[in-house]
Amino acid sequence: MDQLYADILSLAENAARKAGIFIREARKTGLHVDAKSRIDFVSDKDLMSENMIREMIREKYPDHLFFGEESVYGLSPEEEAARIEAFREEDFVWVVDPIDGTVNYIRDYPQYAISIGVVHHRRIIAGVIYDPFRDELFSALEGKGAFLNGAPIRVSAAKEAGDAIVNTSMPMNNMTTRADMVSRIPPVSESFQSMRIWNCAAISLASVACGRSDADYEAGIHLWDMAAGIVLVREAGGEVTQMNGLPCALTQTNVLATNGSIHAAAVSALNTK
Ligand code: IPD
Repeated sequence: MDQLYADILSLAENAARKAGIFIREARKTGLHVDAKSRIDFVSDKDLMSENMIREMIREKYPDHLFFGEESVYGLSPEEEAARIEAFREEDFVWVVDPIDGTVNYIRDYPQYAISIGVVHHRRIIAGVIYDPFRDELFSALEGKGAFLNGAPIRVSAAKEAGDAIVNTSMPMNNMTTRADMVSRIPPVSESFQSMRIWNCAAISLASVACGRSDADYEAGIHLWDMAAGIVLVREAGGEVTQMNGLPCALTQTNVLATNGSIHAAAVSALNTK
């Protein structure tokens, strides 16, 4: 299995890099943008990136399943959860966000990435995040550590909330989740050193993995936004749970990832409204 997992990681790295360079360059030729809702958008490059990645996977692993943001778009939250529940123990499932941070990409704000996670035995066993703007490739394999452009990475050493920077995003799924998220900001901003709102869960999670920030919490998100980031943070020595501190499930729609040392403080701040 070791060799198969290593081959899977290598394909994920190649696909993320190829799609990332494509979206970075193709942006210069113009974008066609459609509204998914009043606050969420998609570009033609999201669809092209997803097709490119899906084809690369299909060519090498035709029997693997594909769970990509643009292919799944339109399902209700219950239908999406049912699809995830249906992953079988033996299935390899490629969980793909062809552009995480689409609105940043559309506006040429340099926080967007390709995110590819692979699930096997209903666990996330591999994750790759490629930031084409900085040419940074983050990758991790369960039990084998986390890397940035091939060099090992670790979460930060911050021990106290007062020394820690926390990332988050404005939820895009609906205004109720957004209002709930905003209501949790005051206690976090009071006890932590500072906050960043990037609206790219993949890069926020990767920044926790490499110690640039100390925590990230995201609400109203999907498995494709966080799968790769979750395995990266764990393999870099961090801790990942739901925002209430309970263990992660593949169907959850929120996540809290930290360097571990400040996890309890983050759970406490996020649950003091
Ligand atoms: C978005 C980002 C953002 C999160 C949104 C997602 P997308 O991903 O991950 O951080 O807050 O909920 O939709 O839609 O740009 O792939």
